[in-house]
Amino acid sequence: MRRSLCFVVVSLALAMISRAQNQPSLKDAYQSCFMVGAALNPAQFTGRDQAEDAIIKAQFKTITPENVLKWAIVHPKPDGYDFALADKYVEFGAQNRMFVIGHNLVWHSQVPKWVFEDANGKPLSRDALLQRMHEHISKVVGRYRGRIKGWDVVNEALNDDGTLRQSPWLKIIGEDYIEKAFRFAHEADPDAQLYYNDYSLENEAKRKGAIELVKKLKEKGVPITGVGLQDHVSLDSPTTDQIDTTINAFNQLGVKVMITELDVDVLPWPGSNPTADVSMHAAADPKLNPYPNGLPDAVQQALSRRYADLFGTYAKHCGVVTRVTFWGVTDKDSWKNDWPVKGRTNYPLLFDRNAQPKPAFDAAIQAAAKRASQSPAGSIGGRARRLSYTGFNVAASENATARIAATFLIQNSRTES
Ligand code: G3I
Repeated sequence: MRRSLCFVVVSLALAMISRAQNQPSLKDAYQSCFMVGAALNPAQFTGRDQAEDAIIKAQFKTITPENVLKWAIVHPKPDGYDFALADKYVEFGAQNRMFVIGHNLVWHSQVPKWVFEDANGKPLSRDALLQRMHEHISKVVGRYRGRIKGWDVVNEALNDDGTLRQSPWLKIIGEDYIEKAFRFAHEADPDAQLYYNDYSLENEAKRKGAIELVKKLKEKGVPITGVGLQDHVSLDSPTTDQIDTTINAFNQLGVKVMITELDVDVLPWPGSNPTADVSMHAAADPKLNPYPNGLPDAVQQALSRRYADLFGTYAKHCGVVTRVTFWGVTDKDSWKNDWPVKGRTNYPLLFDRNAQPKPAFDAAIQAAAKRASQSPAGSIGGRARRLSYTGFNVAASENATARIAATFLIQNSRTES
């Protein structure tokens, strides 16, 4: 009995893996434009979740740690680091030849209280906090020097109105905590790409604040490589025009632009303004959880259209947008099931709870082909890059739906890797 159960489980896992390997892949469809990736949790990068492991290897070229490199996990005590999970994450990326991202060094969330206090629980002085930040960054970035290729150095330092967030970092150190964090990271790994990462940069006020911030950093010669637009979006907000404008605005500053935390919330928003501010919480209410047993067709289609539009917009900025990373792999593990309301059933990603591709997956793949067919001579526009379009690669999936993957040949080398 146990043997046959074992056989069934192994067969199912193998079937899922083989299915994952036979699908067209996001990383190939967009390989000439940008890297496609996902944020991973420990079950995924330790192989505990076989079905997701197969998706990750087949679909993604770059990975981000969802939590394991955050201060609270990697440096929980003043004199105690715990690199056990972070080491496994970096090793997983190396084994699969992926572009490994570090997330994050300086944030107001998931950082222990002791970081800002002395041994007596009193607020630290500016110098002492700078010293602590320096020690943390040197140790963490230094450990993975040459292996983690890009770091979210400062995360979410801005308020919605574009002013600086009153975080303990700002209150104790002052405005230059941002510049110091970048300089410390550069000192620890001079070859690593260094990013400022935030949400809602598509909103004008916040975007203006971020533009000012990046301009100031560049004027001072601070080593910033790129800006991460998180893109925790909903079905209709922000508009693709807003995203377009935002990508152009940062490109004009001479920094790379990355989509770093993509997902699409399909559930009702419990507040007035959509945000990704982790301090927001709302009480559970059945009206806020309308699809506990599956997504209605109409919403599934709306999600597909949204993903097609998003990928169409990103591909329009081929070579300027250098990476598109999903915040998770399947709907099962998405943070969106528990935020801002706990215990909801959300559907924000391209793979469903059974690790199967959703119609939105096809839509994202097809957006690559569509974009190529709209570009002159099959090229995808972008900074001084000519890409020739060589045709479709049509692969029939098990459920007999033809999935179309566009294959592009790149005539010059990638900009990022
Ligand atoms: O590990 C503990 C576990 O031991 C405990 O039993 C459980 C009980 O709730 O909590 C677990 O920790 C959770 C952790 O994720 C790991 O799963 C925390 O409660 C939970 O708050 C934490 O949420 C993370 C959130 O950042 C924290 O701010 C999400 O997973 C993560 O997806 C999210 O990621 C952020 C980005 O870093 C920055 N941009 C926004 C994005 C979404 O909020």
